[in-house]
Amino acid sequence: MIAQGTRVGLVSFKVHANERGSLVAIEGDNDLPFSIRRVYYIYGVRPDVLRGAHAHKDLKQLLVAVSGSVTVLCDDGERKQEYILNRPDQGLLIEGLIWREMKNFTPDCVLLVLASKPYNRNDYIYDYGEFKLHMA
Ligand code: TYD
Repeated sequence: MIAQGTRVGLVSFKVHANERGSLVAIEGDNDLPFSIRRVYYIYGVRPDVLRGAHAHKDLKQLLVAVSGSVTVLCDDGERKQEYILNRPDQGLLIEGLIWREMKNFTPDCVLLVLASKPYNRNDYIYDYGEFKLHMA
């Protein structure tokens, strides 16, 4: 069974491009199905490093590789799918109980994350077996 409200998908954003370069704007509520309460970014990750490897009980996030490339594995308990993020105008929306792992970071990768809630250690599930139990 896939938990209610669980969703993963790629989203494309409008690029305002001209001879001066390119700009992408992302507005919470308008361009995303949540208000942005937190922004963080991950960079300087060695290619052999695995990050993430957890699920969130109640968090919506948008991941954007604003520079470089990263592979994000998403697992809804039944299906696993990998997404390659390598465009600053494209994001991966993750809503609901999804196990996620980030790997294959290129040295120039800057992974921007927009999140619906402040950081809360209690929202994390770090044990894959416990994650599967939530799906049962
Ligand atoms: P961590 O959860 O290990 O990152 P990842 O899931 O990408 O592997 O977070 C690394 C550290 O940063 C950890 O000490 C918690 C801290 N942190 C915050 O303080 N605020 C945040 O919003 C996040 C995501 C992490």
